[in-house]
Amino acid sequence: MMNVLVTGGAGFIGSNFIRHTLAAHPDCRVVCLDKLTYAGNLSTLSAAMENPNFRFVRADICDREAVFRLFEEERPDVAVNFAAESHVDRSIEDPGVFLRTNVIGTSVLMDAARQYGARRFHQVSTDEVYGDLPPDRPDLLFTEETPIRTSSPYSASKAAADLLVLAYHRTYGLPVTISRCSNNYGPYHFPEKLIPLMIVNALHDKPLPVYGEGLNVRDWLYVEDHCRAIDLIIRRGRDGEVYNVGGHNEMRNIDIVRLICRELNKPESLITFVKDRKGHDLRYAIDPAKIHRELGWSPETPFREGLKKTVAWYLANRSWWEDIISGEYQNYYERMYGDRGPA
Ligand code: NAD
Ligand code: TYD
Repeated sequence: MMNVLVTGGAGFIGSNFIRHTLAAHPDCRVVCLDKLTYAGNLSTLSAAMENPNFRFVRADICDREAVFRLFEEERPDVAVNFAAESHVDRSIEDPGVFLRTNVIGTSVLMDAARQYGARRFHQVSTDEVYGDLPPDRPDLLFTEETPIRTSSPYSASKAAADLLVLAYHRTYGLPVTISRCSNNYGPYHFPEKLIPLMIVNALHDKPLPVYGEGLNVRDWLYVEDHCRAIDLIIRRGRDGEVYNVGGHNEMRNIDIVRLICRELNKPESLITFVKDRKGHDLRYAIDPAKIHRELGWSPETPFREGLKKTVAWYLANRSWWEDIISGEYQNYYERMYGDRGPA
């Protein structure tokens, strides 16, 4: 039985990856380590909690003792690191915690992976490490050879982690892989990011705050497609390699917000242009040729279909995001585990 450690698995992509892995590989044990920061929500994992092949541990990836203890107990074959501070706007407000979690935390995990002989350490990275591309040059795409050139404290911290991962491979021979994916969307996306924020605001008839003129371009991928890519990389990807993941789906922010209005039957008059983000990246666009060629991966969910599914999910799962907005989810862990004590 393959034992997979998933860090940051109570967040958006990590929780989707856990659901994917438990469904696609019934022979897998999945252990989730998550600090449950504001972005981690245990109710997101309630279905997994019922699965005997799943274990949840609340800990900080920077806590060396806790991380080593878990590796000692579980001896994971593979560790997949999703744990990160992930919101660019927050990193502009306060970079410190991004450096701590995204850089130091990654090194602690790799030290444990070395010590306990994990067969693979996979780092979930982002296309944002490549900086941005000119909007008027559709011929230019990010490849794995594009130089690192970061813009925000978030992307700089993710790039620093990527460099450390490659250094651990070269220096210590740690078997590593890195995936650099474009913007994800889908179920359980925290409602501070563009797509869920616009859905939730529109449902409340609140203004839809578009930064600048809304002309910045992102390359959107349905989260399940990303999870399938990571699954392939940890099983069949080559040690020491970086794989770009993206779906050739470039969209301007304003067009996404308009589509969401249409999907929810809300007036575009809700759209409000607000002050631009500092250092705002203009355009991201991934060339996924390598992962397609080497691992046969292709995206499966067209954007219109994925957006429809996402909107439907937010309509059907109001209590998930209403709890987040009200802050109620922060009490969930205490309610579930506060006075439970040992078995
Ligand atoms: P998220 O913010 O939704 O989830 C992050 C999770 O990490 C949360 O559950 C949080 O509690 C946990 N966490 C944070 N700090 C921790 C710590 N110190 N110790 C243990 N757990 C901690 O993020 P996401 O959108 O799911 O992104 C997951 C990963 O994918 C990140 O590494 C991010 O850089 C990368 N990524 C995200 C996107 C995207 O579009 N969201 C695209 C490409 C790459
Ligand atoms: P975001 O979801 O924060 O992802 P990232 O910055 O990591 O790509 O933002 C996606 C795009 O949407 C980005 O260009 C910023 C823009 N944006 C808005 O216009 N308004 C908003 O309220 C948010 C959160 C983002």
